Amino acid sequence: MSKVITIISGKGGVGKTTTSINLGAALTELGKDVVVVDANLTTPNVGLHLGAPIVPISLNHVLSGKAKISDAIYEHDSGTRIIPSSLSVKELRRLNYSRLKDVARSLKRTVDFVICDSAAGLGQEAMASMEAADELIIVTNPEIPAVTDALKTAKLAEEMGKNVKGVVVTRVRGGKGEMEIENIRDMLDLPILGIVYEDKNVQSALANKNPLLHEYPNSKASRAYRRIAAKIAGMDYKEPGFFARMFGR
Ligand SMILES: Nc1ncnc2c1ncn2[C@@H]1O[C@H](COP(=O)(O)OP(=O)(O)O)[C@@H](O)[C@H]1O
Ligand SMILES: [Mg+2]
Repeated sequence: MSKVITIISGKGGVGKTTTSINLGAALTELGKDVVVVDANLTTPNVGLHLGAPIVPISLNHVLSGKAKISDAIYEHDSGTRIIPSSLSVKELRRLNYSRLKDVARSLKRTVDFVICDSAAGLGQEAMASMEAADELIIVTNPEIPAVTDALKTAKLAEEMGKNVKGVVVTRVRGGKGEMEIENIRDMLDLPILGIVYEDKNVQSALANKNPLLHEYPNSKASRAYRRIAAKIAGMDYKEPGFFARMFGR
């Protein structure tokens, strides 16, 4: 059954876009038909992450009824498909969130998973992408302010009657000052879908405008995203053995 999954967070900069793109790439790798939508319309990043910062037709055109959805879908060399949003400041004045839900619903008819990369926080923009979702995934870092903000997001989701599939904890270093994963789970009262450790490969992949999963397929973070994607797709995940990691999958 097709699903719209919105990747959301309370605090900004916690790893939502990285998570959206790499879950999109991992689900694509599992043979699923996926499109990653940049629903962070005020500060869009999906196109930047994948080397398509400026495109002729963006999500903004679709939302304002000036273009068809199919014309705003772009395929990265990695096979990951995205709908970028406009970087133009002019477009900010004409943002129209009200059609996001309809756009996500229409997309759902043609693909297995629509992954919406959301804005952070609890504002109108984040709420529109939550509204469009069948399921939410909350991203947080293991620090108290991020988890406290994630709790607000979880409460808002509950008020909106939205199902939260679980939490992805990213940039985990295991250092002092970080919350224990069990404490995060207890505080949010939600299942932990996965843990993504701090990985310098994430920044190198970003610099090379390629999903981490394709740039560094055997990195710890890539494997974490594959495990989460398998959970989302309801499939088994088999950890690659030593030789598979050494010589490619
Ligand atoms: N697991 C990770 N290890 C190291 N850096 C990461 C990791 N995940 C995300 N980052 C970095 O953190 C920054 C914010 O990530 P991003 O995905 O853009 O967050 P958001 O979309 O929530 O603002 C980026 O510079 C990104 O490269
Ligand atoms: Mg982002």
